[in-house]
Amino acid sequence: DVPSMKEHFKESFKIGAAVEPHQLEGESADVLKYHYNSIVAENVMKPETIQPEEDEFNWEEADKIVEFANENDMDLRFHTLIWHSQIPDWFFLDEEGNPMVDETDEEKRKENKELLLDRLETHVRTIVERYKDDVDAWDVVNEVIDDGEPNEQGLRESPWYKITGTEYIKRAFEVAREYGGEDAKLFINDYNNEVSPKDDHFYNLVSDLVEDGVPIDGVGFQSHIQLGWPTIEESKEAFERFVDLGLDIQVTELDVSIYGWPPSGEYNRYDEIPAEVLSKQADRYTELFDLYKELDANISNITFWGIGDDHTWLDDRASEHSDDGVGKDAPFVFDTEFNVKPAYYAMMGMENPN
Ligand code: G3I
Repeated sequence: DVPSMKEHFKESFKIGAAVEPHQLEGESADVLKYHYNSIVAENVMKPETIQPEEDEFNWEEADKIVEFANENDMDLRFHTLIWHSQIPDWFFLDEEGNPMVDETDEEKRKENKELLLDRLETHVRTIVERYKDDVDAWDVVNEVIDDGEPNEQGLRESPWYKITGTEYIKRAFEVAREYGGEDAKLFINDYNNEVSPKDDHFYNLVSDLVEDGVPIDGVGFQSHIQLGWPTIEESKEAFERFVDLGLDIQVTELDVSIYGWPPSGEYNRYDEIPAEVLSKQADRYTELFDLYKELDANISNITFWGIGDDHTWLDDRASEHSDDGVGKDAPFVFDTEFNVKPAYYAMMGMENPN
């Protein structure tokens, strides 16, 4: 019986959550319906699930999420049309089954490039045609900037890049526009894109694409962040550049880990997490939502990468780095039983009654 988040922010932006199909029933579904007006698939709309084999599309899991969004009058984000991860190998094999990236013959490399761009077109067209009346925002390309050891432009040297250069990025947007129509809202999405040097690489790429007439409507900041990183000033500067470019901004995968990086994973039982850590996290939510509200004319959607602390990809990360292989994170504003945390009151700008 706490106030609904979506009602509270209805004049500012949509409030979203990433979901797996099994979360669309039971208590998590009740929380979704009461607090959220936008959803996105955590995994089942990625290339490996949607087109596991060439020309064999699998809509079953994705359809469940689309139906839930429609039945409950929610916005739907599509994640993700093109990505280098969670994509089946066949995309990057030539007709003989050889890896396209290994090809040295110039003629054959050209043929491979055409073949891969044809596959891209089929993938994007088929999905966009099916869901264009359901989807409110498309992650057209995801994580095309590298933050490891980037090349000069910071572009990720994935198979997509090695085989087509930056052509795949343009083509993905063009095909999504062609089949999705003028109303389709097309996003480029990335993580750590508020910190140097990735912030510049991301900005330079997007402004070049816009200048070239590539149909981009908005930028996604995944926002997998930590208690002390990035600073709120870095986030603010990163967002404001895109306001000046006239693009919509969405926060697409928000979570606030209770650890630094790499995660220490020192808490493997949820009730061992100290109150002071949760209180620091609440302060972080306060400054983030203050910033989002300040820029709300240009931010249309804030989506969390999950619902409550019972289900988060960060548990895997915490476990990988913990001493005994078990780690628990707690990134959201609802706890493992969907009770509100200090972070909930913080994001809502309410006094915590507890
Ligand atoms: O589907 C298999 C299942 O058959 C198998 O039994 C099980 C055993 O581990 O694994 C299942 O696959 C897992 C998959 O999620 C579906 O649950 C993978 O191991 C696991 O690695 C995968 O993790 C996902 C990750 O993307 C993969 O890249 C996370 O759930 C998902 O939250 C995460 O989401 C990404 C965004 O798409 C992009 N931005 C970063 C974000 C966090 O990494």
